[in-house]
Amino acid sequence: MIEIAPSILSSNFGKFAEEVASLETAGADWLHFDVMDGQFVPPITFGAQLVADLKATSNLKFEAHLMTQTPERHFEAFARAGCQRIIFHIEATVHAHRLCQELRSTGIEAGIALNPGTPASLVHPLLEVADLFLVMTVNPGWGGQKFIPETLTKISTLRSWSDLPIEVDGGIDAESIREVYDAGARVFVAGSYLAKAPDQAEAIRKLRAACAD
Ligand code: DX5
Ligand code: ZN
Repeated sequence: MIEIAPSILSSNFGKFAEEVASLETAGADWLHFDVMDGQFVPPITFGAQLVADLKATSNLKFEAHLMTQTPERHFEAFARAGCQRIIFHIEATVHAHRLCQELRSTGIEAGIALNPGTPASLVHPLLEVADLFLVMTVNPGWGGQKFIPETLTKISTLRSWSDLPIEVDGGIDAESIREVYDAGARVFVAGSYLAKAPDQAEAIRKLRAACAD
């Protein structure tokens, strides 16, 4: 079973409520919030208030992908806003083990993201405290980039170490999804692919069909 987590990064920022309703009707499982602070990555996107306001309009599960320095400063706000899962970058902290424990102690799933240039070995000591790994399949900061195939080896390596769910983020469409699935990913972020789709329900069905045996 796979899960689809649309990112609203490529949506029209003036129409978030409509976009979220449309993605929910189209069969998404999660909503993926790309939070950028202008430091860890150059762009700035949005904060917890947007998540809280959209949560009031949606039954989807929400996850925050924090592309921020000092990610722990934002945990409480995004938890209060209604995120079931908070993903922070391993490159943004030297205290990943403690931060996972912190999230779990408040009942939030702890996700750890790895940039394309970051080796899997960096998260090996965290297998017991993490709930999910997010393998970036593009460099973080922008939607609409091309999938980086060298990340496939990292997905297989993580898969060989544990049964923790592996999520992938960047360049996922009905073409690229199969090889990432075969490497072991089961949760798929999709941004520009869904934003461009004339029929989002059909586009999500295509993603699921591409992973079927
Ligand atoms: C990139 C973000 C992604 C991005 C994915 O920094 O983390 O979630 O929105 O967009 P696509 O699917 O267009 O690559
Ligand atoms: Zn993301």
